Amino acid sequence: MSLGTDGRSERTDAAAPAPAPLDYLSGFGNQHSSEAVPGALPVGRNSPQRAPHGLYAEQLSGSAFTEPRAANRRSWLYRVRPSAAHPPFERMASGTLRGAPFGETADPNRLRWSPLPEPPAGTDFLDGLWTLGGNGDASRRSGMAIHLYSANSPMRDRVFSDADGELLIVPERGTLLLRTEFGPLRATPGEIALLPRGVRFRVELPDGPARGYVCENHGRPFQLPDLGPIGANGLANPRDFLAPTAAYEEVDRPVEVVSKYCGGLWRAVYDHSPLDVVAWHGNHLPYVYDLRRFNVLGSISYDHPDPSIFTVLTSPTSEPGLANVDFVVFAPRWLVGEDTFRPPYFHRNVMSEYMGLIEGAYDAKSSGPGGFVPGGGSLHNMMSAHGPDRETFEKASAAELRPQKLDDGLAFMFETRWPVITTTQALEAGHLQQGYDSVWQGLERHFTGGDRPGER
Ligand SMILES: [Fe+2]
Repeated sequence: MSLGTDGRSERTDAAAPAPAPLDYLSGFGNQHSSEAVPGALPVGRNSPQRAPHGLYAEQLSGSAFTEPRAANRRSWLYRVRPSAAHPPFERMASGTLRGAPFGETADPNRLRWSPLPEPPAGTDFLDGLWTLGGNGDASRRSGMAIHLYSANSPMRDRVFSDADGELLIVPERGTLLLRTEFGPLRATPGEIALLPRGVRFRVELPDGPARGYVCENHGRPFQLPDLGPIGANGLANPRDFLAPTAAYEEVDRPVEVVSKYCGGLWRAVYDHSPLDVVAWHGNHLPYVYDLRRFNVLGSISYDHPDPSIFTVLTSPTSEPGLANVDFVVFAPRWLVGEDTFRPPYFHRNVMSEYMGLIEGAYDAKSSGPGGFVPGGGSLHNMMSAHGPDRETFEKASAAELRPQKLDDGLAFMFETRWPVITTTQALEAGHLQQGYDSVWQGLERHFTGGDRPGER
């Protein structure tokens, strides 16, 4: 039994038979608190001489102590044993997980991948992480990395945390049950999970194999974008972000604790589970969010808005308006623009765009060898020229402009300030599609303003 003190929210799942609902605390960025045992949370102070019930008090900071209040993040954890009780960490093989800085060279080509191949039996979430690329430097707390995961086995006697940044997990197939230090979260396709820097968690797979995407954000933590003239409401609404309520386990057997640290993986074997937090309070917290609750805004007159209008979460930099990385969703919406080419326009951007597909189809890029399919992804790096494929251009240029509901897909984008450096494994992968450029071939010359070729 978990107790929430800030107004809890229970989510319901439409699928039957429904799994047991989890208790959640509603609201992004709040100071939440929760206790799994009544009286476990100290009252009126963080570090009493003796914490209630013989627990150890421990602070987990996600920001420097002295950062401004609006940016300050920390949580207090009251746990059976302190995290400090462990033997030395040792470097371990990272498999297909890679970390920034990346040694390879950024590629100006437009690239697209099919879904990851099925992993060997017994692959858990951590083993199943495969790095496509990224930028910046994890140890400098800048930039980001793009990973995909494909797993068919729960993590057993093993927990993971990322000292290099927060993890934004985008399930595409299968359910993730995330047992975190703060309590359990469930994330299904269509939802996202946010695991802050340093928070330990274990991934279980209650529905079997799971697949999806991960944005590792080395920069400032994701926050909701400012709304400006939109007003006080809209886009992702804060109350739809759900934090867990406290739950703990007491496991007195060896548990492998793996940490991603400055690009590599390190392990230490604890003699107990570190998921032993009985009570906590603070604002450095994990969340889940249902992308179907995103309030989509757009043009109701003319023109296709820039995709920043679909920003769910942003990791800001010190330069106003420039994100380290944005998470953007293309959710079901109406298109009503008059005298408008309604799909995305042709463009070359200073920002770099990785797109993935959670379900269905995306309106501007389904053609070509292998297609743009759920579990796959495309990378349009800084200044690469892209936009609608030939098929989309021809269809949308001739379409009758009636109001049209786009409701057959859920796509997303990680948009980042620097070019994405693709890993060697991503460029040599069998699932890298060959011939992606062909989708823009055959865009015919329609120019009617001149009567003969040549320079004018
Ligand atoms: Fe684009």
